[in-house]
Amino acid sequence: MSNRLNTTPNDLRAFWMPFTANRQFKKEPRLFVSAKDMYYQTHDGRQVLDGTAGLWCVNAGHCRPKITEAIREQAGELDYAPAFQLGHPKAFELANRLVDIAPEGMDHVLYTNSGSESVETALKVALAYHRVKGNGSRFRLIGRERGYHGVNFGGISVGGIVSNRKMFGTLLTGVDHMPHTHQPGKNAFTRGQPEHGGDLATELERIVTLHDASTIAAVIVEPIAGSTGVLIPPKGYLQKLRELCTKHGILLIFDEVITGFGRLGAPFAAQYYDVKPDMITTAKGLTNGVIPMGAVFVTAEIHDAFMNGPEHMIEFFHGYTYSGNPIASAAALATLDTYKEEGLLTRAAELSNYWADALHSLKDCPNVIDIRNTGLIGAIELDPIAGEPTKRAFTAFLKAYEKGLLIRTTGDIIALSPPLIIEKHHIDELFEKLREILQNNI
Ligand SMILES: Cc1ncc(COP(=O)(O)O)c(C=O)c1O
Repeated sequence: MSNRLNTTPNDLRAFWMPFTANRQFKKEPRLFVSAKDMYYQTHDGRQVLDGTAGLWCVNAGHCRPKITEAIREQAGELDYAPAFQLGHPKAFELANRLVDIAPEGMDHVLYTNSGSESVETALKVALAYHRVKGNGSRFRLIGRERGYHGVNFGGISVGGIVSNRKMFGTLLTGVDHMPHTHQPGKNAFTRGQPEHGGDLATELERIVTLHDASTIAAVIVEPIAGSTGVLIPPKGYLQKLRELCTKHGILLIFDEVITGFGRLGAPFAAQYYDVKPDMITTAKGLTNGVIPMGAVFVTAEIHDAFMNGPEHMIEFFHGYTYSGNPIASAAALATLDTYKEEGLLTRAAELSNYWADALHSLKDCPNVIDIRNTGLIGAIELDPIAGEPTKRAFTAFLKAYEKGLLIRTTGDIIALSPPLIIEKHHIDELFEKLREILQNNI
C-alpha cells in the first residue's frame, strides 16, 4: 500500500523540521494556526504575543491587509515571469523603491529568495568584481567568529558558529575569521553600544598582514550579530572596519538580514551607525516575511565594473529562477507602502528608550548575567546550568510559549525583536510575562 494512503491527518513525522529539536517538538507540538498584528493564535486556541516578529521578519505585524491584498491581486494577474532575459514591471519598480531608502550610493539591487542566498550572491559578486577589475588574486573572504550568514556553503564558511560548520567538511577554502566582539566581563548591562572592544577591528590588520591585502576580496559582518545572541558593535568598531577595508582595497559587506528594514530605527544599520559598506545583504523584512525574497544592494562602482564587453553578453553569470518573482515583488512593494504609511522604518527610534527601560528592569531576576539592547532589539543572557548548556534558556522559551509569549533563544541567551508596530502596552505585557518566568528560578 502506498505510504500516502497511510498518512493520517496531523501526522507530524514526515516533516524534518529546520533548526528544531524534532523529537521534543513532536512530543509536545507548538503550532500556530492564524495571526493578526502582534499576536499568534495556537492550535489549542491561545493567543501568543509575538516577541520576535516571527523570525526577525514580520516587521509590520501579521496579516496586514495591504500586503495580503497585493499578493492576492498579483497572483491573479501575473503569477510568474521568467527572470532571465525577461522581466516584469514590479521588479524594476521595487528595485527603485529599495534604492531610494538605502544608504546613498547603493544604487543597484540583485534579487534572491532568502538571507542565505543574499549572502552567497554578495560573496560571489565580491570575487567576480575583483576579477573584472583585473585583481583576480583577491579570492579570500573574511568573516567573524559568532557570525551567522545563513546555511549555504559560503555563508557557513564565513560564519562563525561551530555547530553550523563542524559537520560539513572543508567548506570554502581561503576563508579567515576576525574575533567576535562579545566581552560580557567588561560590557555587561550596557544600553546601546558597548564602550569596550572597538579596537578589535584592528584584528583585520593582523589578518591582512598574514595573507596580504592583494589576496583578500571582502569582509562580511552583521552590524549587530543577531543569531548568536545580539552582539552590539562596540563604539568605533564598524568605523574602524570601514577605514581598514578602504585602506586595503577590500570590499565591506554588511549582512543586514535582520537589521534591515527598520529594526534599529533607521531603514538600515548602515544609516543608523553612519558607516557605508560596499554591499548590503537583506531578506526577511523586505516582504514582511510573507513571501520568500531577498535583495543584495551594491554600489554603482561595483555594478558598473561589470558593464563591459559586447552588449549581447550576460555580464554576471548568477541568478535564481525566482529572482524578482512577481508575487514576491508585489508583496515587497506593499510592505514598503505599509512601512512608509505607518512610519515603521523609524518607529524603533521613538520606542527604543521605553523598550530599553523595560528590558533592563529584568536585571534583578535570578541567573541574568547580561542585558543588551539597541533599537527594538533586546537580549537577556542567562547563566548556563552547569553541564547543561542551552537548557535554561530553552526552558524559558517553553514556559513563555505556555504563558502566551513568543521569545527566541540561542545558547543561553533570550533574543527579542518584536514587530515594529508594537505599542507600549505590548512592551509591558511582554516584560511582565518574562519577569514571571525568570523570577521562578528556571
Ligand atoms: C544575518 C543573517 N544572515 C543570513 C540569514 C539567513 O537568512 P535565511 O534564513 O532567510 O536564509 C540570517 C537568518 O536569520 C541572518 O540573521
